[in-house]
Amino acid sequence: MDGLAPALVDSLLHEHVPGETVDLVERLAVPLPAAVLAELLGLDGSAAEHLRGWADSTLLPSGSPPRARDTLATMLAIITDATRHAQRSGSALARWTAAHADARSPTADELAGLLFYLLFVWYEVLADLIAGAVLTLLGRPDQRRTWHALPDKRSAVDELLRYLSPQVLAGPRFATTDLTFGGTTITAGQTVLLCLASANHDPEVFPRPGEPDLARDPGAQLALGHGVHACLGNALVRTVSAAAVDHVLTRWPDSALAVDEREIVWRSGFRHRGPLTVPVELR
Ligand code: HEM
Repeated sequence: MDGLAPALVDSLLHEHVPGETVDLVERLAVPLPAAVLAELLGLDGSAAEHLRGWADSTLLPSGSPPRARDTLATMLAIITDATRHAQRSGSALARWTAAHADARSPTADELAGLLFYLLFVWYEVLADLIAGAVLTLLGRPDQRRTWHALPDKRSAVDELLRYLSPQVLAGPRFATTDLTFGGTTITAGQTVLLCLASANHDPEVFPRPGEPDLARDPGAQLALGHGVHACLGNALVRTVSAAAVDHVLTRWPDSALAVDEREIVWRSGFRHRGPLTVPVELR
C-alpha cells in the first residue's frame, strides 16, 4: 500500500494543468478511497467503475441524493462482484480468504457482512479526512511548512485526525451496571454515546484545541477509537491520507484555496463530518 497510494493519487490528478481550479473532494477525496477499495477487493473494469459511481452518488453534492433502496441495491451488486473476485489470486481479499480456507471461514454470509461493513462504515470518513486535511493545510501556510519539515508524517496525520475528528461519535455502548461519570448517573441498560470529537477538543488535554498544531504530540487523540474496538483500518487510514496530502502539497506546492475557508460548507451528519467541496487552484 505504501507505493500504491501515491500512484493512485497521481493517476487521479495527473491530467490537471497549473492554474486550473478543481474541487478536491470530487477529484481526490471521494475517488481515492474507491480506488484503494477496488484494489483491496480485486475489482477492475466495470466492477471498479460501479464502486466509483456508488461513491460519487452517495457523497458528492451534485445531483439528487440517491434513494436508500437504490443505494442498498448498488451496494449489494458491488458485494456480489467482490465476492466473485475473492476467488481471484492477487488481491488482498483473495489472499485473506485463501489464508482462512482451512478454518471454513469466512462463510459466504460473513464475507458479505465484512464487505457491507467496508462500504458502509469506513468509506465516508476516509473521504472526509482527506478533504478536511487538504483544506486545513492549504489555509494555513505555517502548518504546511511544518508538514514538509516532518520526516515522518504519522504524528501530523494524527493531529489532523484529532482536529478534524471525521467520525464524531463512537458506536453506541450499553451500561452493564449503574455508574456515575462526571456527576451524571447512568443506570444499567442505558445507551451511552461517546463523542470522540468532544474528547479530542478537551482543552485540559490539548491546549488550544480549536487550532491544528502539527508540531504537537497528539498521542492521546481518539479519532480512531480506543481499546479492543479501536479502528482496524488505522494503518490504512494513516498511509492513504498521508500519501494523498503529501502528493497534493508536493506536486502542487503553490496551490491555494479558491474561496475563503469560511465559505466552505460542511456535511454534518449525525456521526460523520467533512467538507462538501474544497475548490483549489492548482499551482
Ligand atoms: C479516517 C478514516 C477512519 C476513521 C476516522 C475511523 C474511525 C473509527 C472509529 C472511531 C472506530 C471505533 C468505533 C467505536 O469504538 O465505536 C472504528 C472502528 C472500526 N474501523 Fe475505522 N475508521 C476509519 C477508517 C477505517 C478503514 C479504512 C477501515 C478498514 C479498512 C476501518 C475499519 C474499522 C473496523 C473493522 C472497526 C471496528 C473494530 C471493532 O469493532 O472491533 N476503519 N473506526
